[in-house]
Amino acid sequence: MDSQFFPSFPSFSLLFILNILILHQVPSCSSNPDEHYKNCGTAFSCGTITGIQYPFRGYGTPQYCGYPGLVLKCNKYNITTIEIMSMAYRVLGINQTTQVMKIAREDMMESVCPQELVNTTLDHTILDYASTNYMNVTFIFGCPFDFPGLNLLSCGDSANTGAYVLPGAEGPGFCKVSVVVPASGIQMGLGGSVNVTGLSRVLRNGFEVKWKVDGKACRDCIGSNGRCGYDITKHQTTCYCPDPTYTGLASCQEDIGAPSTLNSSAPTSFPGPSSGTLLFSGKYE
Ligand SMILES: *[C@@H]1O[C@H](CO)[C@@H](O)[C@H](O)[C@H]1NC(C)=O
Ligand SMILES: *[C@@H]1O[C@H](CO)[C@@H](O)[C@H](O)[C@H]1NC(C)=O
Ligand SMILES: *[C@@H]1O[C@H](CO)[C@@H](O)[C@H](O)[C@H]1NC(C)=O
Ligand SMILES: *[C@@H]1O[C@H](CO)[C@@H](O)[C@H](O)[C@H]1NC(C)=O
Ligand SMILES: *[C@@H]1O[C@H](CO)[C@@H](O)[C@H](O)[C@H]1NC(C)=O
Ligand SMILES: *[C@@H]1O[C@H](CO)[C@@H](O)[C@H](O)[C@H]1NC(C)=O
Repeated sequence: MDSQFFPSFPSFSLLFILNILILHQVPSCSSNPDEHYKNCGTAFSCGTITGIQYPFRGYGTPQYCGYPGLVLKCNKYNITTIEIMSMAYRVLGINQTTQVMKIAREDMMESVCPQELVNTTLDHTILDYASTNYMNVTFIFGCPFDFPGLNLLSCGDSANTGAYVLPGAEGPGFCKVSVVVPASGIQMGLGGSVNVTGLSRVLRNGFEVKWKVDGKACRDCIGSNGRCGYDITKHQTTCYCPDPTYTGLASCQEDIGAPSTLNSSAPTSFPGPSSGTLLFSGKYE
């Protein structure tokens, strides 16, 4: 056996191992801004909702790829959901041109009554009702006596056995809790009551909300071959470029060194995650 060929085999392998260790250090440094461009390249698609881009991002993609609060989830039935003020909503449609999204309460998709005793409340820093023509209805649970002239709506086998449905946004009064739900096309019955026939279909049809994130910054970015993202410290839309890599500028074709001219109409006081530590940390939600 000729050991001359590998005279220093032990030190060679040690070097090799050291090399591997060092090489593996590098990718773990996810602050490499080049990754931002790459990681934010996938549009969200799920069932009938396809090709959705910034300001939305898919659940599981990095926070720096989308606006906080506009995170889409795809479940195993290919149904898209979004969480707004801790409530799950089913996403029925998204129009990125008009910035309108159609949503319905997920807890009312299978049941005529709300399962979660929470009002339908938007996060008005990012969303508004797309129409002022929605009518609110109020479900009132746990009344100590019968409302004269009103039929108790049976809520099926849910824990909340029955509810009265009133037009408008109402408080619970003598009853335990009231839940307000907006919809369009609610039919009125006799004496100003809500006609509950077909009510569940109307509510499953959802309502439209408009997102208030300024689309111009992102359009400019895409126009310069960049990909849009969200600057977690500055609370605004930013642009990731393929080459040269991320510069923090509004678009990819500006001179490096020029001050950023990005103006975002996004609310500056947006209650995002606390500044600093999350930026470039590659943290996933
Ligand atoms: C969900 O969509 C994927 C991709 O289109 C498809 O492969 C899968 O079968 C769908 N699952 C269901 C439950 O429809
Ligand atoms: C978005 O809305 C506009 C205006 O109503 C319409 O022309 C367009 O087809 C819609 N896009 C999608 C994807 O529905
Ligand atoms: C009721 O619906 C309208 C939309 O038409 C909305 O502006 C309002 O905030 C809703 N909620 C309450 C509590 O009135
Ligand atoms: C829902 O809103 C009404 C007033 O609009 C309020 O009286 C009621 O307490 C709210 N219900 C819950 C569960 O917060
Ligand atoms: C309630 O609506 C149904 C169908 O939507 C209709 O047939 C019925 O007459 C309505 N009832 C009242 C009291 O208006
Ligand atoms: C950015 O905003 C400042 C003041 O808010 C304004 O003077 C400037 O023209 C804006 N720049 C662009 C590119 O819109």
